[in-house]
Amino acid sequence: MKSKINSFWTVVLTIIITYLIVKFAIPALSRELTGMPFPLPVPSALIFIYMVLTLIAMFLLVTFDDKPLNDFMNPIKRFLRGDFSKPVRAIGIVLVSTTVGWYVYDITVPKVAAPVALRIQHPSSNFPNKMEDLQNPMTSPTEEQVTSFIEQAKAGEIQFIEQVVPDFEAWMDETGEEDPLLAINTPAIKTFRAALEADNVSAETARAALLEVRMFMGRALYAMNCRACHGDSVAGDGPMADGFKLRPINFTDNGTIETIVEGYTFWRVQNGGPGLPLEATPWDSAMPEWKVSLTEEERWLIIMAEYDLAEKTPRIPEKH
Ligand code: HEC
Repeated sequence: MKSKINSFWTVVLTIIITYLIVKFAIPALSRELTGMPFPLPVPSALIFIYMVLTLIAMFLLVTFDDKPLNDFMNPIKRFLRGDFSKPVRAIGIVLVSTTVGWYVYDITVPKVAAPVALRIQHPSSNFPNKMEDLQNPMTSPTEEQVTSFIEQAKAGEIQFIEQVVPDFEAWMDETGEEDPLLAINTPAIKTFRAALEADNVSAETARAALLEVRMFMGRALYAMNCRACHGDSVAGDGPMADGFKLRPINFTDNGTIETIVEGYTFWRVQNGGPGLPLEATPWDSAMPEWKVSLTEEERWLIIMAEYDLAEKTPRIPEKH
């Protein structure tokens, strides 16, 4: 029996029809069967296997005898010789080469895609062990620091970090108050001021007030440096947060700063995204490297305020 179409068209049509079935008909059928609102796509690895099998079958079909091989080659040769007219040949050659060219370009051009590897939020491979036992010096003032704070307060010259000085000055100008401590004025500060007036300050009272002053400065530094990303609520929802694929961390979440020791938090703040090892880098972190723009004292002040704002306590370092 003589078939109506020659082996060239048999091959071309079989390949096209197989592809259409695998790519569209099977997903459409699966949608009918499952009743889901979307088709179930065939994985591309499976499509690849189907197409390779089809190509092998076509190769066998064409090469098992001279006749189908000639049938297959004839249209190609005639096309290349220009038997179907020169413009057709020119258009055909341009089409084939641009299609192949575009395809190669498409698979080689770098794409922005989600990394396949999982990201480790608290990597430890390059965390220096000696930092593990660090304690925040801001939360435990030394005796000298307390004594010097009392002296500063008596002289009316409390040392604030320079970033908050303009705000205190503006506040004093506006209210006509002389004492910047009044701007903080928490119960501990009130007790301290009263004791100062009565010239009867205990180290405990002064220590509590000093902690309040430090907390105030830490919060101010947080608002200046971290708030844009980590948010007023410290829940990782600052005005800039939506701009990052890897979102700024939500400190109120139990899996974040509460599960790490303070020395680790300090290390993370100090080195930021650039300091992260490989296992934490799929999705590059936008977290800045704070050792560049904040002093060690300022970083500890912020961490003190950060834990306080999040109402969390750091993990206690294990004894080695
Ligand atoms: C430009 C936005 C941005 C700013 C500003 C920023 N962060 Fe981050 N921060 C991030 C992102 C994004 C992450 C999450 C990726 C990562 O872990 O590095 C993060 C993670 C962290 C972590 C890790 C928490 C954990 O549990 O692993 C800490 C701690 C942190 N930030 C503290 C701070 C502090 C303190 C400041 C201010 C001095 C600050 N960040 C400012 C973007 C920012």
